[in-house]
Amino acid sequence: MKDLVVVLALVLVAALGSARGEPRRVWDQAPPGSRPHSVTITEFGAVGDGKTINTVPFQNAVFYVRSFADKGGAQLYVPKGRWLTGSFNLTSHLTLYLEKGAVIIGAKESSRWPIVEPLPSYGQGQDLPGPRHQSLINGYNLTDVIITGNNGIIDGQGSVWWEWLLSHELNHSRPHLVEFLYSEEIVISNLTFLNSPAWSIHPVYSSNVKVHNVTIETLLDAPLTDGIVPDSCSNVFIEDCTISVSHEAISLKSGWDKYGIGFGRPTSDIHIRSVDLLSSSGAALAFGSEMSGGISNIHVDHLRIHESYKAISFKTSRGRGGYIEEVVISNVQMHDVYIGIEFTGNSSSHPDSTFDPSELPVISQITMKNMVGTNISVAGVLSGIDTAPFTAICLSNLNFSMVDSVLSSYWSCSNVSGYSELVFPEPCAELRDPSSSASICFSLSSYSAVAIA
Ligand SMILES: *[C@@H]1O[C@H](CO)[C@@H](O)[C@H](O)[C@H]1NC(C)=O
Ligand SMILES: *[C@@H]1O[C@H](CO)[C@@H](O)[C@H](O)[C@H]1NC(C)=O
Ligand SMILES: *[C@@H]1O[C@H](CO)[C@@H](O)[C@H](O)[C@H]1NC(C)=O
Ligand SMILES: *[C@@H]1O[C@H](CO)[C@@H](O)[C@H](O)[C@H]1NC(C)=O
Ligand SMILES: *[C@@H]1O[C@H](CO)[C@@H](O)[C@H](O)[C@H]1NC(C)=O
Ligand SMILES: *[C@@H]1O[C@H](CO)[C@@H](O)[C@H](O)[C@H]1NC(C)=O
Ligand SMILES: *[C@@H]1O[C@H](CO)[C@@H](O)[C@H](O)[C@H]1NC(C)=O
Ligand SMILES: *[C@@H]1O[C@H](CO)[C@@H](O)[C@H](O)[C@H]1NC(C)=O
Ligand SMILES: *[C@@H]1O[C@H](CO)[C@@H](O)[C@H](O)[C@H]1NC(C)=O
Repeated sequence: MKDLVVVLALVLVAALGSARGEPRRVWDQAPPGSRPHSVTITEFGAVGDGKTINTVPFQNAVFYVRSFADKGGAQLYVPKGRWLTGSFNLTSHLTLYLEKGAVIIGAKESSRWPIVEPLPSYGQGQDLPGPRHQSLINGYNLTDVIITGNNGIIDGQGSVWWEWLLSHELNHSRPHLVEFLYSEEIVISNLTFLNSPAWSIHPVYSSNVKVHNVTIETLLDAPLTDGIVPDSCSNVFIEDCTISVSHEAISLKSGWDKYGIGFGRPTSDIHIRSVDLLSSSGAALAFGSEMSGGISNIHVDHLRIHESYKAISFKTSRGRGGYIEEVVISNVQMHDVYIGIEFTGNSSSHPDSTFDPSELPVISQITMKNMVGTNISVAGVLSGIDTAPFTAICLSNLNFSMVDSVLSSYWSCSNVSGYSELVFPEPCAELRDPSSSASICFSLSSYSAVAIA
């Protein structure tokens, strides 16, 4: 602990100089080194040999950092090494910093990932009914947390979980890599996330979350691995990320059927910019299918999507309730994509058989503009719900170069309506509604920018 005292003394001097002034957004601070205090995981007995289990050192380090909460918080420094651990919790006013060459590795034993309650907006786990495994790194009811580094790695060793899922040996739903519940002022940046058992970054019931400059990868034949999943969250900013996963690369959600309707917390004010996405068997950018709390005011621009099954997908079903509205997606490049644009009202999974089919979702005011695609097999498949058609879909300035010239495979539409201009190949009649005009195109002027300085 002698080193610790020296470090504390040094950073205290630095802190005195910066403690005054306006409160700042957590992401305006300049980590690393911006916390007035720092501790290193080895001071808590951790061993970075890739074999020793370090769950208790991580728990103890986080517990110790709690004592700095009212003193500007502290950094937990993880040096070069392979730090095997089970699931652990974070605390407020913490920076978890992974040095270059530092790898936090999830233990392969399922018992090291405790069982926790299902999310109230889902009513049960994603893979199985009942409770679920806790994620590797967890935040609950926190504020001001930064997970960053000099390109350190967080590796979930997901393959054991994928095998259990496929062989029906799972007893509870798979864990994610990083999950925050009921938290705010969260930054995740400058790191690589590998092989999550399920999803990589899952903020839930949270606000003011920024994910910047992260790389996320899982094996492309893994079952149902997602990248970043903002779920019943507001003010989320995702920028400069590269994501390559089997299922959805970025997926916006807000709860499942009656559980999501009852919980009633929407996903809104989301800004996604300059991301490079690949989804081998799902959609690179997905909305839903769990959207029962509503999804609105979503701004996506400068998207690059390649080698993906579907590029952009809106998914819902009868029984979901909720809405997806006020979405603008612009400046998209697609290469080697099977389906460019999908809308489906028949994404049929339900948490239980008692769902109420009269709870109809609303999908409206979706604008997609300035998109270029090459080697696209199917331009668009848009199928709404016949008693609740999807409306005010606007396509503007799209040019897809198709794999072959079978005209009939370009677009198929039912129970949707909208407007299109400068779209090639020419879309279906439902999107050329003569009674509608460019005025239905949801415009950015009504978009209240995410509060980013
Ligand atoms: C991420 O890295 C960039 C470039 O080194 C740096 O400017 C930025 O402050 C880092 N972000 C965090 C949260 O550490
Ligand atoms: C981690 O947080 C969860 C949720 O708040 C809690 O149930 C669990 O007891 C915590 N675990 C530890 C080791 O503190
Ligand atoms: C959440 O945190 C606040 C402030 O830190 C505290 O007052 C409250 O009791 C916490 N709630 C829960 C459910 O832990
Ligand atoms: C992204 O993070 C890496 C380290 O992981 C850093 O070297 C690079 O400068 C960062 N880039 C930006 C734009 O922040
Ligand atoms: C599921 O439970 C059985 C019986 O307790 C146990 O043998 C098995 O290891 C568990 N599977 C997983 C993946 O935890
Ligand atoms: C076109 O994209 C498909 C994937 O949709 C890919 O398999 C194929 O190799 C690509 N063809 C060319 C010529 O790039
Ligand atoms: C919905 O999809 C299922 C298969 O997933 C199919 O059997 C059913 O006919 C579809 N229903 C409608 C209305 O398209
Ligand atoms: C919905 O689509 C189906 C299949 O294309 C069609 O038969 C039906 O008339 C449509 N319903 C409405 C209300 O447009
Ligand atoms: C679409 O883009 C191709 C090049 O990829 C170009 O040759 C073609 O003229 C464009 N079509 C329209 C209608 O802009």
